[in-house]
Amino acid sequence: ASAPQISVGVLTADWLTLGAQLELMERAGVELLHFDVMDGAFCPMLTLGAPVVAGFKTRLLKDVHLMIEDPLSKLDGFVAAGADIITVHVESTRHVHRVLQALGKMINANDPNRGIVRGIALNPGTPLEAIEPLAGEFEMVLLLAVNPGWGGQKFIASTCERVKRVREIVRDTALICVDGGVTQDNIANVARLGADIIVTGSAVFDGKAPFENAQHMMHALR
Ligand code: DX5
Ligand code: ZN
Repeated sequence: ASAPQISVGVLTADWLTLGAQLELMERAGVELLHFDVMDGAFCPMLTLGAPVVAGFKTRLLKDVHLMIEDPLSKLDGFVAAGADIITVHVESTRHVHRVLQALGKMINANDPNRGIVRGIALNPGTPLEAIEPLAGEFEMVLLLAVNPGWGGQKFIASTCERVKRVREIVRDTALICVDGGVTQDNIANVARLGADIIVTGSAVFDGKAPFENAQHMMHALR
């Protein structure tokens, strides 16, 4: 397996200088940008939707994490907004299998020869077995290491065991993404447990040194 990558969460970026912030990420060698889409219903906070994702003009790949109810009806909008990865929560719909199937047929708006990488996300309280009937319908599993709602929360320790177990379940058929509470102190450990993609929001966009932070996080993965 290749070295894990970071996916940088935009929520705590400096939105007044967004263009410059994104350029810093590109210069640091970041390849993935993580969008936390919250609807104020599936989780408490309301953040951003497809028009905002579309408004990000960037060469970085768009990694869209949907924490919303009724994701099926919203997929088209996020695909049109240039999403490269779309992750849906197993808890967010009765018909998660149908949602993944629909996503599997969609064409990447950035490149007609590519599809959408399908992620399936689990809240910290959801049994890992929930992904078993979905085998073949996802390319990534996202394990939340915090309860969805806010950036800057504390990493839930039991996630470590879950990362190891999910690796046993998916083996090399899916990427594993760990999201929430990752810091410069624990990122190497999270990678060692078997994560391929590690989301980092407030640890990079801390209002001080995003470029250096991104470099440090990436350095810890080599
Ligand atoms: C949790 C979100 C995460 C989170 C990451 O609701 O899905 O992506 O905002 O932010 P940090 O890295 O600050 O925990
Ligand atoms: Zn997220």
